[in-house]
Amino acid sequence: MGRIQLEQVSKSFGELQVIPPLDLEIEDGEFVVFVGPSGCGKSTLLRLIAGLEDVTSGQVLIDGTDATDIPPAKRGLAMVFQSYALYPHMSVRKNIAFPLRMAGMDEAERDRRVQNAADVLNLTDYLDRKPAQLSGGQRQRVAIGRAIVREPAAFLFDEPLSNLDAALRVGMRIEISELHQRLGTTMIYVTHDQVEAMTMADKIVVLQSGVIEQVGSPLELYRRPQNRFVAGFIGSPKMNFVSGEAAKPYAAESIGVRPEHLQISSAEGAWKGVIGVSEHLGSDTFFHVLETGLAESITIRADGEVALNRGDTVYLTPEPDKIHRFDARGRRIE
Ligand SMILES: Nc1ncnc2c1ncn2[C@@H]1O[C@H](COP(=O)(O)OP(=O)(O)OP(=O)(O)O)[C@@H](O)[C@H]1O
Ligand SMILES: [Mg+2]
Repeated sequence: MGRIQLEQVSKSFGELQVIPPLDLEIEDGEFVVFVGPSGCGKSTLLRLIAGLEDVTSGQVLIDGTDATDIPPAKRGLAMVFQSYALYPHMSVRKNIAFPLRMAGMDEAERDRRVQNAADVLNLTDYLDRKPAQLSGGQRQRVAIGRAIVREPAAFLFDEPLSNLDAALRVGMRIEISELHQRLGTTMIYVTHDQVEAMTMADKIVVLQSGVIEQVGSPLELYRRPQNRFVAGFIGSPKMNFVSGEAAKPYAAESIGVRPEHLQISSAEGAWKGVIGVSEHLGSDTFFHVLETGLAESITIRADGEVALNRGDTVYLTPEPDKIHRFDARGRRIE
């Protein structure tokens, strides 16, 4: 089981409050991602759950039991960090078995669990190698293996993929998602990468300055961001924001339109502008449209076959049912 509840949990370092009191529920078996900009408190929140930091106030409940005063090793949770922290002189097998040996588990059971973890992670052929003889992705899998053998109630990942190159990251992202589906164990995953959050999570928790801005499924956050911060954070390329006079016809202080929800025409439309930089991805092209008088530049996503050049005059029209409206405080207006 791995149900985790935070009740009015707060954290201060000395005078500095980095997490004001917050509530959060994580269901057993859920894949939850904490996402937000650097310094927003993601790692701190994860460490509070793990017990690596003491809460300043509030309670951490694991499967309904108050775990606030239970030391990290006894919480039944396993943490995987960005730096793999493998023992260089030990084989992969010994690295994976290490927490079990520390716990005094007998050798037969240890071997069984290591073998299982190695199967799940495609590490069977590497069990006798040393960490230095592995690729970055393989090393990260060893670190995950070390967590799996403990058969934890929940896995806690703190930016586990940020040391890997882009292609490997995509591969490991899928592996971790598959692992979650296979094990069905609760996973809490910290990242500042909203693409990781969107592609992996059942539930995303968006944080800013220690405050939960919104909790929801990836598509809920994409479709109905509760405020401008979430609207700007979730989605790539970023949502375009327009305020002032241009937002007035839409009965809002400001509006947001995603690049994929703007129609482009060379003949007519709501907003006129001039093509600036184009980013060709093959399947799609992102055009940065200048001189609209709305914002420094408006990004639009077009089909990769659309042929437009720098300096071309274009007209943009937001899809009416895809416009997000915000009040003066940046809160969503329905
Ligand atoms: N031990 C500490 N003492 C004092 N301040 C700390 C300590 N640990 C973290 N902080 C502060 O708490 C805030 C949240 O830090 P945290 O590491 O949780 O951020 P984060 O969201 O994980 O950022 P990143 O994406 O850069 O890893 C930051 O302002 C940080 O400076
Ligand atoms: Mg962090």
